[in-house]
Amino acid sequence: MAATRQVNIAIIGAGGVGKCFLAQLEQLAARRPTPKIVLCYIASSKKAVYSADHAPIALSSAIATLAASSQAPLGLPGLADFLLSSGAHKSVLIDNTSSQDIADAYPAFLRRGISIVTPSKKAFSGSYQLWQDIFSASAESGACMYHESSVGAGLPIISTLRDLVDTGDEVTKIEGVFSGTMSFLFNSFAPASGTGGGKWSAEVAKAKALGYTEPDPRDDLNGMDVARKLTILARIVGLEVESPASFPVQSLIPAELESAASGDEFLARLPEFDAQMEATKAEAEKEGKVIRYVGSIDVATKEIKVGLQKFDRSSAIAGLKGSDNIFSFYTKRYGANPLIIQGAGAGGEVTAMGVTSGLIKVISYQS
Ligand SMILES: NC(=O)c1ccc[n+]([C@@H]2O[C@H](COP(=O)([O-])OP(=O)(O)OC[C@H]3O[C@@H](n4cnc5c(N)ncnc54)[C@H](OP(=O)(O)O)[C@@H]3O)[C@@H](O)[C@H]2O)c1
Repeated sequence: MAATRQVNIAIIGAGGVGKCFLAQLEQLAARRPTPKIVLCYIASSKKAVYSADHAPIALSSAIATLAASSQAPLGLPGLADFLLSSGAHKSVLIDNTSSQDIADAYPAFLRRGISIVTPSKKAFSGSYQLWQDIFSASAESGACMYHESSVGAGLPIISTLRDLVDTGDEVTKIEGVFSGTMSFLFNSFAPASGTGGGKWSAEVAKAKALGYTEPDPRDDLNGMDVARKLTILARIVGLEVESPASFPVQSLIPAELESAASGDEFLARLPEFDAQMEATKAEAEKEGKVIRYVGSIDVATKEIKVGLQKFDRSSAIAGLKGSDNIFSFYTKRYGANPLIIQGAGAGGEVTAMGVTSGLIKVISYQS
């Protein structure tokens, strides 16, 4: 049996975020010797490392050990059994994947007292039933559920919004640029300075070349990533959003290119549609404004929307730089000047920070 004051951790997912998280976990374990933090399971989609006696896996070499392993991952119910059989006073699952199957299993883990920390949006932006099952399982068992990095990566978005709601402030509106890709595209295409900005298709191609887009840029331009994040925020303020498909999302994919066979074909044909985006940009410029791709939630009217809007050049949204995100929370307490959180909304290190901070909360939580 493990020592009483021990937190046993299972990690699934050792990609960009998972690797950064492991490095942060190593520092955390050194900084906080009590309770003892023990990594007893790590897996990718095809491999795993664990032993029947829950022996600690060395954090500094966990990635190399996983790469060299010939062990197959445990099934999800088997993983829960494995974690609970260790006798540690707390067990935590860190889900660093974007797997829907794993997300669907969160209620089962939570019901059995296993806390979960994840940067994935999957569990919180799918069906409303799954959202309810997750948080009722957590409330019943006392196991914690943290997903700070599911919106805005390491930016303190989820925790701030929950604090506003839990302390009794009245959130009236949330607005912002919630996608690093969209931020980069529009800051380049329609700079607030009014000068520069290439053709839309050239900006999309540049963003892809710099690694700011998904391999097929349509996966960013369809707006679904923003819609998923808005769904999460709307649910936190109490709106029963059934799914990201329940509100209007403006896709920036020309209808004629929806069925292009590949991302490359899409990019090759995108210049045919530059005039449309140029006209939208020019119309905003005539009013002294710039276009930005934003998401907004009007809490009173329950109106949620994602798409292009015009903003004054002097506004915080127009003045964003690079691929930064910005989130504006309008509340009764904050009055006319919203609480604004701005900064990098993607990247392994900052995303892992949101995971590590969630783990620290689980460890500190007295249950
Ligand atoms: N990167 C960012 O900037 C960022 C920002 C915010 C949120 N996130 C979220 O963070 C999560 C991880 O992102 P990432 O960039 O680290 O992704 P990634 O580099 O693609 O890594 C994903 C990892 O998960 C593993 N995996 C995938 N499906 C699995 C399954 N069914 N069972 C077990 N392992 C599985 C993969 O294993 P294999 O290699 O064997 O497939 C890989 O180790 C995602 O949910 C993402 O949306 C990322």
